[in-house]
Amino acid sequence: PSSVRLAVIPGDGIGPEVVTEGLKVLRAAVGSEVSFETTEYDLGARRWHASGETLPDAALAEIRQHDAILLGAIGDPAVPSGVLERGLLLRLRFELDHYVNLRPARLYPGVTSPLSPAVLENGLDFVVVREGTEGPYVGNGGAVRTGTPHEIATEVSINTAFGIERVVRDAFRRAAARPRKHLTLVHKHNVLVHAGHLWRRTLEQVNAEFPEVTTDYLHVDAATIFMVQNPGRFDVIVTDNLFGDIITDIAGAIAGGIGLAASGNVNPDRTAPSMFEPVHGSAPDIAGQQKADPTATILSVGMLLEHLGLDKAAQKVEQAVSADLIERADRVRTTAEIGDSIAARLA
Ligand code: IPM
Ligand code: MN
Repeated sequence: PSSVRLAVIPGDGIGPEVVTEGLKVLRAAVGSEVSFETTEYDLGARRWHASGETLPDAALAEIRQHDAILLGAIGDPAVPSGVLERGLLLRLRFELDHYVNLRPARLYPGVTSPLSPAVLENGLDFVVVREGTEGPYVGNGGAVRTGTPHEIATEVSINTAFGIERVVRDAFRRAAARPRKHLTLVHKHNVLVHAGHLWRRTLEQVNAEFPEVTTDYLHVDAATIFMVQNPGRFDVIVTDNLFGDIITDIAGAIAGGIGLAASGNVNPDRTAPSMFEPVHGSAPDIAGQQKADPTATILSVGMLLEHLGLDKAAQKVEQAVSADLIERADRVRTTAEIGDSIAARLA
């Protein structure tokens, strides 16, 4: 594309700071080759305090008209837990059908992992395909007898054949395109038998379309052990929304920290714009202090460029980040300094 409409949602906490650096690097990467037209949306805690709105229908309709979305972070201690998460972030993921929540984990040269060199012998380079529109995140649940000793609270995990099949097929496609061609299903079918068996059967069925891909299965608890004892065994992982949420935080931690973990909320059918965001949250404790690492956002910008078919620019971003990480050592830099030095490598 020669012109791209990008919706930008800086959000809360450190969101605006890291997004500023992400956009700086984006512009440096595409140069004059592509014109990026950005529209900023003031959504998040400030908007909610001012008007009680999380994601007005009109804003959603406008955002839908863009080619992609860049999001900083959502969440604020002064807003009741769940209001912005459900009303804004999850609503965007659901409404825009982001059924593939793509979370790569890769240990870049020069980056220190908390894992020992022996554990890292087989490398660390995998991608989690986290289902993004179903599971317990749907919000199918409720409470009765609230406040009494007999209160009952339910959170029902929704797993549809349609929803599982499409995300599993996407994961197979990604596995088939990688050198190792291996796909691991992570679930807990010894306890969550109904959903677990549906996931398992679907994996087997879709495997017939991708005979070159090898598969295996791990219960989620066992998967956490492998992640810290032999992460090199993983290539592509496919899992449900909640398990994926949890294991991608571990994945971020072992790959050098959540400050480097990028993600894409992808609509592979392209019926709506995909949304790219760092895996980390709004970190209100360090907001506005230029202490946040914008690298996760910058790598998310790389994923955004790749999604838009701007492969050359995407590769340039990844290479610039990679080069910066090698020279980073223990130097303490501000959020803007990190963005500046990565952008400078692209100029
Ligand atoms: C993430 C976050 C969100 C999630 C929260 C903020 C709703 O933890 O993107 O991983 O659970 O998906
Ligand atoms: Mn999370």
